Amino acid sequence: MPAVSPSPSKPGSRPDRIDQSNVSRSFDAHARTYDKLVGANPGYHEHLRMSAKRMGLPNKGAGLRLLDLGCGTGASTAALLDAAPQADITAVDASVEMLAHARRKVWPTNVRFVHGNAEELDKASLNGPYDGILAAYLLRNLTDRNAALRSFRRLLKPGAPLALHEYSVRDSFRSRAVWTAVCWTVIIPMGRIRTGSAGLYRYLWRSVLDFDGVEALTTRMHATGFDDVRVQTVPGWQQHIVHTFLGRSPGRPATAADPDAPTPPEGIDLSKP
Ligand SMILES: C[S@@+](CC[C@H](N)C(=O)[O-])C[C@H]1O[C@@H](n2cnc3c(N)ncnc32)[C@H](O)[C@@H]1O
Repeated sequence: MPAVSPSPSKPGSRPDRIDQSNVSRSFDAHARTYDKLVGANPGYHEHLRMSAKRMGLPNKGAGLRLLDLGCGTGASTAALLDAAPQADITAVDASVEMLAHARRKVWPTNVRFVHGNAEELDKASLNGPYDGILAAYLLRNLTDRNAALRSFRRLLKPGAPLALHEYSVRDSFRSRAVWTAVCWTVIIPMGRIRTGSAGLYRYLWRSVLDFDGVEALTTRMHATGFDDVRVQTVPGWQQHIVHTFLGRSPGRPATAADPDAPTPPEGIDLSKP
């Protein structure tokens, strides 16, 4: 099992404050309650399945090798498996405890879990190139997002998709207001009641407000070498808050994407869930 390098705290940051340098350690402490909390969030699993389907993985994934980066307790892994039940899926996370909860679930033999840091994937025992990567609620938690995106691209075969499933509210006053209201009336109080500590949930609120807006993230994806970048949102209270950012590594894919995949034909399409 490859080791995860401890990241130093940012100079000047409070030792008890959660930020991108120590967030995966905080997930260790919250692994036990994570599934219950996300299960109480209407649409959480359905939206992950949407993002996985939007990748357009052909033939139920037969013959494909896929990565789920920042897999946590396996919710996004299950979504990828739903979209591509015949693919070989490698799910990676830096939190030992989140992975332990994921591994305790029942999985078919084509799914494996690996302990690793998504910012140091060269140290994880991965065997690229891959036919697709899903990273759900991960990128916001990374310290050098451009370097990470470039390393994800290098792991992909030509034309293979990267789906970033992420909160992105910065471009819309309404989205920021709804996000703040839901955090302070539901997510943070519920997190405190269920886990005894609201630190990770206050970090969630803050980190989402600070994270890229839709335009910035699509620009970032282009700048880090992704082609054919498209964005779709999801239904429910998360509309225009949670999005699928889909890009492809440059080049022609060996196998055509599923023509029935629910991806917009071109450009950014935020109107349809
Ligand atoms: C919000 S959870 C999402 C889990 C899962 N993808 C889901 O959709 O339910 C974010 C996960 O990213 C992991 N994570 C954060 N930073 C990471 C890093 N640098 N490398 C790998 N995993 C990381 C955390 O440990 C946590 O399990």
